[in-house]
Amino acid sequence: MATVSSTDRGQWSGRLGFIMAAAGSAIGLGNIWRFPYSAGEGGGGVFVLIYLAFVILIGVPLILAELAIGRKTERNPVGSFKALVPNTWWPVVGGLGVLTGFGILAFYSVVAGWTLGYLFKALTGGLAAAVDAEQSGLLFGELVGDPLWALLLTGVFLVLTVLIVRGGVSGGIERATKIMMPLLLLILIILAVRSITLPGGGEGLAYLFKPDFSKVNFGVVMGALGQALFSLSLGMGAMITYGSYFPKQENLWSSGATVAFFDTLIAILAGLIIFPALFFAKIDPSSGPGLVFVVLPTIFNSMPAGAFFGVAFYFLLAIAALTSTISLLEVVVCYFVDERGWSREKASWLLGGACFALAIPSALSQGAVGFLGANGMFTWDFLTLNNNIWGNYSLSIGAILICVFVGWKWGIKPALASLEEGGFSLPGAGLWAILIRVICPVAILIVLLFIIITGSYF
Ligand code: TRP
Repeated sequence: MATVSSTDRGQWSGRLGFIMAAAGSAIGLGNIWRFPYSAGEGGGGVFVLIYLAFVILIGVPLILAELAIGRKTERNPVGSFKALVPNTWWPVVGGLGVLTGFGILAFYSVVAGWTLGYLFKALTGGLAAAVDAEQSGLLFGELVGDPLWALLLTGVFLVLTVLIVRGGVSGGIERATKIMMPLLLLILIILAVRSITLPGGGEGLAYLFKPDFSKVNFGVVMGALGQALFSLSLGMGAMITYGSYFPKQENLWSSGATVAFFDTLIAILAGLIIFPALFFAKIDPSSGPGLVFVVLPTIFNSMPAGAFFGVAFYFLLAIAALTSTISLLEVVVCYFVDERGWSREKASWLLGGACFALAIPSALSQGAVGFLGANGMFTWDFLTLNNNIWGNYSLSIGAILICVFVGWKWGIKPALASLEEGGFSLPGAGLWAILIRVICPVAILIVLLFIIITGSYF
């Protein structure tokens, strides 16, 4: 049941409700689409290793920092900074977050639309044509290169997102995720078992877990850092927003850590599905953003009950994406509701609509309109360009600023007080303080500087 806080903004009905919703935000296309293709491009095991290190050293401390801010202020990212340090420039950091949420949603909803397209194809038997890697590649190209389909699917996905966000925190987000997340985990485990037992599965496991250190460069390190932040929904205030609905009497830090654990587990599970399958179908790991979409149909077509697994997989992928687009739109909507006094209904529809307009060039960048594609106006296609700008660089800059804010401006003491509220003391609080004040911001800064110096923007 929904309880209403003193500020009338709504609240999670409890710890489990929060974990489900926050895990729903974290777990999405980032884990299942972005992680495998980034790992494939980043050399496999070595990328995975660096990614895991970043999750532990940067992701976990930062999720606690964002949640602490949100719980203390019960506000959106911009309002949070205003409340904690009035009359400073810090709310700009929240503004950057709101902008980044918009930027991410504008390409994310395109890929989310592809999952709907594949779900539709799986349901109507359209995937049967993908008998081998080549045919599957053609099928993907047809779907994403058709301007009408690409726009329609993006639009449908955004409408679904708006319909849930306008229902509000407890009514919409929580009810949706409580049912969907456990289902997702179950289907992924089944698929992973299926994939690993395919011929060639062992090779995939070796690729995923055996680091080849000759493949490291700063582009790979940057990709792994961006992936760690993106996957955990960090660096733009999404977790500030989610923390703002967290009940005062419950254990915040253990809930945050649980979310980080499940998010990482799901990414690894996705790797266990994609990489063995990829070696089975003999597809290049560095195939880029189409990787997951090209690899899977060939597998479904060569396994018993493949049609069923196909439908189940795209269904779960669409749901995982939906619980993430909800959180992206929620950050933006929450800002306009709290700070600009818009109604939730108006904010959801207007901002969802604006996002659709911004998504158009990304939706058309996969073959429909040549100059938006790779080697057109840019080195990357427009969607990949946005993925890198918002998903890697903007989140990294946001992450540094949030660390500096909590470590040096707001202060470790009040942050810890917010984290430990309810009487749950944080184990290793001293270590957390060092990570937030020094190690995280310096590490991210070093990566960004090297990217600039070496010019290896990806
Ligand atoms: N974490 C989500 C995923 O892995 C995407 C996402 C949702 C996100 N909200 C976010 C990324 C906020 C960065 C910031 O798919």
